[in-house]
Amino acid sequence: MSTTTEPIQGFTDVEDARAQLATCGYLADDRLATTVFLQTRLEKPVLLEGPAGVGKTQLAESLAAATGRRLIRLQCYEGQDETKALYEWDYGKQLLYTQILREKIGQVVEDAADLNEAVERIAKQDSVFFSQRFLAARPLLEAIDSDTPVVLLIDEVDRADEALEAVLLELLAEFQISIPEIGTVTARTMPYVVLTSNNTRDLSAALKRRCLHLFLDYPDAARELEIIRSKETGLADSLAARLVDIVRGIRELELRKAPSISETVDWARTLAVLGVEELTADVLSTTLNVVVKYERDLKRVMEALPRLVDPNAEVPDHLHGHGHGHGHGHSHAPVAEDRDDVDGRAERKAKDQPGRHNAGYYGGAGGTGPRTAPAVSTSQGSRAFPSARKRPV
Ligand SMILES: Nc1ncnc2c1ncn2[C@@H]1O[C@H](COP(=O)(O)OP(=O)(O)O)[C@@H](O)[C@H]1O
Ligand SMILES: [Mg+2]
Repeated sequence: MSTTTEPIQGFTDVEDARAQLATCGYLADDRLATTVFLQTRLEKPVLLEGPAGVGKTQLAESLAAATGRRLIRLQCYEGQDETKALYEWDYGKQLLYTQILREKIGQVVEDAADLNEAVERIAKQDSVFFSQRFLAARPLLEAIDSDTPVVLLIDEVDRADEALEAVLLELLAEFQISIPEIGTVTARTMPYVVLTSNNTRDLSAALKRRCLHLFLDYPDAARELEIIRSKETGLADSLAARLVDIVRGIRELELRKAPSISETVDWARTLAVLGVEELTADVLSTTLNVVVKYERDLKRVMEALPRLVDPNAEVPDHLHGHGHGHGHGHSHAPVAEDRDDVDGRAERKAKDQPGRHNAGYYGGAGGTGPRTAPAVSTSQGSRAFPSARKRPV
């Protein structure tokens, strides 16, 4: 672990942040550009929450490109073990070495009086096998231990269990990882940390407090059009503008999965390849599978298309567009026919059962008194962080 410190390249101001992101193909609005600029100045992590496909992951990628930093990504998932996030010992390599060195190891224990003594002698060699050589760094350690400044993307943190969230919390508080067998690894350059969440569950108040928090929603029509244009889809501007309006109309429908920006881009490309010159309900419905991926959604959109293309067209009564196309705001009674999940709403609901978190988890009342940490297995945290330290609240 060397001690070189690279100068951190930052943005001069908000406008500079926006311009540099744009050069890398990312079109940020005022709020986002400001948040990104602040993150680089305050050295605070950014937490982006919002529906799928609004550019959360892409922001981290573009930030890395714009600042010339390497991107290190931790993709979170349910049941993820902290060893997959922090580090693990390369057991296969250790085994290989012990086999190759069998004779040498034999010599070490050759004249041991009994088994106890033999074990003692082997134990003395621990540091050989639990050394840097056999350490497999996973994304978090890799980011902390990097010689050069990095962007650390902790993607879809809402999928991670609370135990891993607690590990992240500690990491973001200290920017160091303690490996009992080796020592503490401290970040030499501050990573720009971007956390994303698709909002399938609420994150802890402690995690939110540590971060600059931003809710990213679908962009307004003008910015979405700008994004489509920037992707050079080949579709004429006037048609792209119409298409954006139609997609926005589709998002208003009660769908299991609302079309994302990338799907609008794909649709524009598809229509351009087909040489479409007018957006009719017919041509849109034959290509609808590009943007709508569930059978039931497909039916709903098909029915609504004539109205979306021509607002004066007649629409069946049961189709309603009522202004919350991204699946937030009020909730609907679950539809019995299938495992409907409007933008993760059902998933969120299922996860947010009472008792899932302790009282202070969301930072609400009842969080007084000695704070109980989210359930972390005894091995977790203690192996990665100094156990004497107070858990951050
Ligand atoms: N502001 C933006 N500027 C440029 N492209 C964008 C923007 N927002 C979204 N996109 C496009 O949408 C796609 C999906 O974004 P992504 O970051 O994967 O979504 P999320 O992580 O929010 O689910 C990206 O590949 C990118 O092409
Ligand atoms: Mg993503």
